[in-house]
Amino acid sequence: MDKHELQTAVEELHQRYKGLTDGQVATYIPELGNADPEGFGISIVSAEGQVFEHGDPSRPFTSQSISKPFTFGMALEEFGHAKVATHVGVEPSGDAFNSIELQNGTNRPFNPMINSGAITVTALLHARYGEEAFDQLLDRLSAAAGRALSVDEAVFESEQRTGHRNRAIAHLLLNFGLVHDEAERALNMYFRQCAILVTCHDLAMIGATLANMGQNPLTGAHVFDIGCVKHMLAIMFTCGMYDYSGEWAYRVGVPAKSGVSGGVLAVVNRQVGIATYSPRLDPRGNSARGIEVCVQLAARFGLHAFDCLNFGSSYLKLAL
Ligand code: DON
Repeated sequence: MDKHELQTAVEELHQRYKGLTDGQVATYIPELGNADPEGFGISIVSAEGQVFEHGDPSRPFTSQSISKPFTFGMALEEFGHAKVATHVGVEPSGDAFNSIELQNGTNRPFNPMINSGAITVTALLHARYGEEAFDQLLDRLSAAAGRALSVDEAVFESEQRTGHRNRAIAHLLLNFGLVHDEAERALNMYFRQCAILVTCHDLAMIGATLANMGQNPLTGAHVFDIGCVKHMLAIMFTCGMYDYSGEWAYRVGVPAKSGVSGGVLAVVNRQVGIATYSPRLDPRGNSARGIEVCVQLAARFGLHAFDCLNFGSSYLKLAL
């Protein structure tokens, strides 16, 4: 049988970019500095559950910021948009993921993908469910991945010990009444969610669950509310790659989220989840190889939201 075009593509892109050594492995969380800089995986899972992958699809790494859209989705499900919107906006900040700033006028974090917004969202969940909120997140991500995920305790402790900038952000949020006296415990949950271990394969499966309207294509589990999936993808589209989000939307054109340990998760709505892992980061904290692989996949398969192959609303197509 002929090799599938997507399998050929992931193998070719792996071969093409394994020699790219631009960027640096993150060390500001000391434990992340132990990552093998050569680790490199590419996985694609379709909304029907077909898998195409190459390199190191099974090498574990911590999710870091890739956990942020999922806590945001859970908060939307739990509290609804109106309440969540009183705590965090949906505007790209144009600033770094760890910037210490709030939106002028509203004094809310710009969006839930940067640290200040993500800590606020986690604090909302923590205020309602206490320590159980973390287990709920882990259960959701496990259901999306289709296997039980766990936490890298060494990475968690490493960030808990050294995350003074996030601690400063949490105290700024405390000052503006966005988090309350649970700040320190919510911050611990935030560090713990960032330390959830995934593989490239898991991430692509999680992406396929989003692409498949919140339902894991292999297990059939309904993991995320379909209405919230739309908003998770929208915020990933506008804010998921931090101060590279505009250029990403321009060059790749699909919702995505990066993490400082080297993962990138991209979603082609109703079609595929794409994940890459390579820990060398560009100056904005995005995986250097991951970006190039996604640019090439988008160009080759017409993934961009505004590619001429995408014809818009199928509803309107019937109506017109
Ligand atoms: O809060 C932090 O700094 C990390 N735990 C997560 C940041 C992150 O992943 C940014 N991503 N590119």
